[in-house]
Amino acid sequence: MPRTLWIDTDERLFTWDQTRLPFESVVIALAGEADCAHAITSMQVRGAPLIGAVGAYGLALALRERADDAALAQALQRLNATRPTAVNLRWALERVRDRVLPLPVAARADAAWQEAGRLCDDDVACNAQIGHHGGRLLQALAPRAGVLQILTHCNAGRLATVDHGTALAPVYALHAQGVPLHVWVDETRPRNQGASLTAWELADRGVPHTVVSDNAGGLLMREGRVDAVLVGCDRVARNGDVANKIGTYLKALAARDNRVPFYVACPVSTIDPRAPDGAAIPIEERSPREVTHIRGRDPLGQLVDVQIVPDGSAALNPAFDVTPARLVDALITERGPCAASEPALARLLQDDR
Ligand code: MRU
Repeated sequence: MPRTLWIDTDERLFTWDQTRLPFESVVIALAGEADCAHAITSMQVRGAPLIGAVGAYGLALALRERADDAALAQALQRLNATRPTAVNLRWALERVRDRVLPLPVAARADAAWQEAGRLCDDDVACNAQIGHHGGRLLQALAPRAGVLQILTHCNAGRLATVDHGTALAPVYALHAQGVPLHVWVDETRPRNQGASLTAWELADRGVPHTVVSDNAGGLLMREGRVDAVLVGCDRVARNGDVANKIGTYLKALAARDNRVPFYVACPVSTIDPRAPDGAAIPIEERSPREVTHIRGRDPLGQLVDVQIVPDGSAALNPAFDVTPARLVDALITERGPCAASEPALARLLQDDR
């Protein structure tokens, strides 16, 4: 499988439609800003770093139509509004804007396209470093049964990034080194990114894994069957509070109660110095239909949505939650592990290598 986002020899941009996985591998072309915005809002692409990368290309494509200051600001605003919680989107859009703003209007579209490409290459390099640092941290744990047991929530693998993943980067690094490991994969209702995407990509790489219901993690930790919880994240506030897929907070509570280390893997671009704490992070609320219905494959092989609640029952669908910094044992970034605290994060951000 190539990168999650790639351009062909004719400079056309492609990705996988993640709403069709794990049953169908469908490639979609992103030919303009509208395609990129639609891919993000409909979750054909998802995961903080990948959303940022698609947003960056979306801005570059918008500038092919009009590239004056007003058009640039409007396209940035439109793309930034596609999903609210992952800060990588804003970060990526601002990176492209800052690169092209000083240039003559006629030079902006090409420069933005090049910058989006560099941003993707940087994402791949960052995630490889996260894999390296996270792998060392995990190897320092003494696996209770000779096989390192990792529990993860949602999908923070290669499908959520341009390549390697964040939380799964250390898993892939250790697996490639021959370290025996096994991943407990939370199904991650309501959209089942764990069952559909994490399980799919781990299977693709031959990594031993078991899908569990979202409610099983506490029992597994209590029984001593988890050596570490390792998740990705969508935004880290200045004080180290972490927003990630709904249900992450409950895993962190269970981990602390059972003395299981809780690690959060993320590139430095996921740290938002403008958010003082978790309360400042906007939590996306998605359609109740994602709770009232579930998608799967029927016996004829068709993808179908099935209703699972009584007619008329209300449903609420917050897509993310905030784990307080005190429950996070370490952030794993491309610059190395870092405490989830304001002074440690300030030092990390200053260390601009
Ligand atoms: O709603 P999603 O699927 O975009 O949510 C994704 C997550 O919560 C991931 O865990 C997070 O973005 C980290 S991605 C490397």
